[in-house]
Formats: sequence, C-alpha cells, structure tokens
Amino acid sequence: MTGYEALAEVYEWLISDAKLAPADFAASFDDVLALLPSDADVLDCSCGTGQLAVGLAARGMRVVAADASEAMVRRTAELATELGAPVRSVRADWRDLPDHFDDETFDMVFCVGNSLHHAEGASGRVAALESMSRVLRRGGRLVLTSRTWELVRSRGSRLDIGDRLVRRNGRDAVVIYRWEIAPRWEDEHHIEIAVAQVDAAGSVLVRSELLSCWPYRYDELEAELHRVGLRTETSTFSLEDENYRVVARKV
Ligand SMILES: C[S@@+](CC[C@H](N)C(=O)[O-])C[C@H]1O[C@@H](n2cnc3c(N)ncnc32)[C@H](O)[C@@H]1O
Repeated sequence: MTGYEALAEVYEWLISDAKLAPADFAASFDDVLALLPSDADVLDCSCGTGQLAVGLAARGMRVVAADASEAMVRRTAELATELGAPVRSVRADWRDLPDHFDDETFDMVFCVGNSLHHAEGASGRVAALESMSRVLRRGGRLVLTSRTWELVRSRGSRLDIGDRLVRRNGRDAVVIYRWEIAPRWEDEHHIEIAVAQVDAAGSVLVRSELLSCWPYRYDELEAELHRVGLRTETSTFSLEDENYRVVARKV
C-alpha cells in the first residue's frame, strides 16, 4: 500500500515554509543543479504535490514528475498548470520506472522529502534504487534526502503534537505524528499523520492516514546504492542531524 491519497489534499500543511514556494524548493538544491546544463532531463520520482518539479521546470529543465499516489500526481499536474510550468506528470511506482522511461534517460533523479522509507524492506528499497539507477544516464546523479532513522528509532514509539498552528490557504491546522516503532529495524513501522484544520466557525476537520515504512541505517543505504551502480559523491549524514542528503553518481 502506497498511501498519500487522503493526505494529498492537505499536504501543504505538512510541507515546511521553506519548501512551499517551487522556486525556494528548487533553490535548496542549487549546488547540485549547478552541475547540470540548463535544459537537463530531470525526474522527481516521488514528486508529492509537485513544488520541486515545478521549481525545476521554471529554470528551463525538462522535468518529469512521478509518484505512486494518483492524488499526488493530480495535485502536481494542477500546480504545474496553475503556474504555467511544463511538467510531465506520470503515475509510477519506483519499481516500474523502467516501464515508463528508457534506460539512461535522465541527468538527475530526485527522491527527496523522506520518501524512500516507504519502499518495502531491503528488497523493495534495492528494487526502487535499481530502477532509479537504470533510468539515469552514466555520470548522472541520484539526489536523495532522508530522515536519520538511527535517531528516530532511538526515541521509540511516540506522539508528536505540533505546538503551533500551521497556516496555509488562510486556514489553520494542528499537525500530529504518531510514530509506531517496531522492535526490529527490518520490521514494518508506521507513521500516522493527522492534519486537524480549524475553520473560522471553530469546527475541526481531521484528515489522517496510516503510512507504512521500513527504516534503514545509513550504512545499509550506502551499500545498497553501491549495489545498484551508484557511488556516493557527497553526503551530509551525521548522527547529530534529523535529516541528511546523499548525492550518488552512476558509474
Ligand atoms: C513524504 S512524501 C514526499 C513528497 C515530496 N518529495 C516532498 O518532498 O514534499 C513521500 C512521497 O513518496 C511517494 N511514494 C511512496 N511510495 C512510493 C512508491 N513506491 N513509488 C513512488 N512514489 C512513492 C508518496 O506517494 C509521497 O508522495
């Protein structure tokens, strides 16, 4: 189960202020984007509501936005139309990317915003990474961002209730994360996310979804990237930080 059908409708309440504007989201990758020609072929393979894809297209790149969630793909297409950005939106599970695109089509593939943990276990993750690697040109790069699961798991199961209202589209909401941490790394974990919107009359509308995830240690991820023909070029991994970014090059 992929999920993100109910959450797609309220996803902006889950995106940080810094990633909300497409240009800002794209600018957060300025250093890697500088390695590309301005008309590069780029794939965002877990595009969510499309802010990154639209930001990249606005820079003149040829952008494909893919996601397994139909609702996410629809929202990406809507955002692209609204902002006049030429983004091709495709519903595709990572494992099926080679059914949609020829091998060696893209100069850069993005899988960002804590997406990869939704791949089912080590075998699902390797299959996903292998697909991403196949559609990359030789010398092309995979850009991946991830939670530091070593930290997340050390905190155990818990409830995180936002301590402030998040305002989007003139509406306030409280965001709640319920973390279900399984005893063993390789077991299925869950994150339940609820967005409770408060309207002007004071009524509360809650949208929530239970998402499955399979965490991984950084060392495992590195080994898996290597296995699918990708070599880590830069990494910000640190046990002190909540998130990290890996840029891996296809050999
Ligand atoms: C946390 S969201 C991140 C979205 C976006 N990249 C961002 O940074 O806001 C995770 C995304 O991964 C997508 N996803 C989960 N499993 C997937 C799969 N097997 N293939 C493709 N996309 C998947 C979800 O539908 C969702 O849009």
